[in-house]
Amino acid sequence: MTSRPHKESRKDQAHEFVRGLRRYLEQMEEEGTEYLLISRGKDKDPAPAVPRPLAARRPVVAEIDADIRKCRLCRLSQTRKNAVPGEGGMKKKAMFIGEGPGEQEDLSGRPFVGRAGKLLDKMLAAIGLSRGDVYITNIVKCRPPLNRDPKPDEVVACWPYLERQIKLLQPRVIIALGSPASKTLLDTDQGISHLRGKIHDYEGTPLLATFHPAYLLRAYTVENRQKAWEDMKMVRELLSQK
Ligand code: URA
Repeated sequence: MTSRPHKESRKDQAHEFVRGLRRYLEQMEEEGTEYLLISRGKDKDPAPAVPRPLAARRPVVAEIDADIRKCRLCRLSQTRKNAVPGEGGMKKKAMFIGEGPGEQEDLSGRPFVGRAGKLLDKMLAAIGLSRGDVYITNIVKCRPPLNRDPKPDEVVACWPYLERQIKLLQPRVIIALGSPASKTLLDTDQGISHLRGKIHDYEGTPLLATFHPAYLLRAYTVENRQKAWEDMKMVRELLSQK
């Protein structure tokens, strides 16, 4: 006859069970299955062994979104129609980061919905991804007037939002779209032609810099398209690594 486990070992077993359940839920999430948020209740497990599943992170994503929508930290808030926090899923654990919302994004409050966004959708589709598989956001969350580049003080003001998004969503790969995003994330003055096509490091996360789809639309040459395709294949390769 097995005796009842000691109180401590029952606690260990309970923690092991919770950890296993979390792992299982995260796997479901990776496979694209939605599930209900399970409250941790009185479980005082101090250090979850695995990152919290996206469903559990969703309320925090909503908190960040709300903070961005009411933000007044820089002059861009005075001219915006809508702030654009970002959107998508984390099924593929990739984060695509552009420069800042354009006109269509400002009107809709959603990232990459204009012409550049349509091309981004095609770039994603070319490596078997859809918008819902990845998280898409920008360096600045409000439209710079006339689509000018964001100014350094605007980038500085907005930076904590992106930092919170990255910390929370814990992407396995970051893709910086275009020069301003690549320079900001890599804290460098080097241009996109120099940065693209290589795997960089953003605080321990692989970061790939590639052309901004709006640039590709302006300079739709065979050579640029070929380079963009090489970059997307690198993204696919990075995402396929376990
Ligand atoms: N360009 C960007 O950098 N971001 C958008 O959301 C749209 C266009």
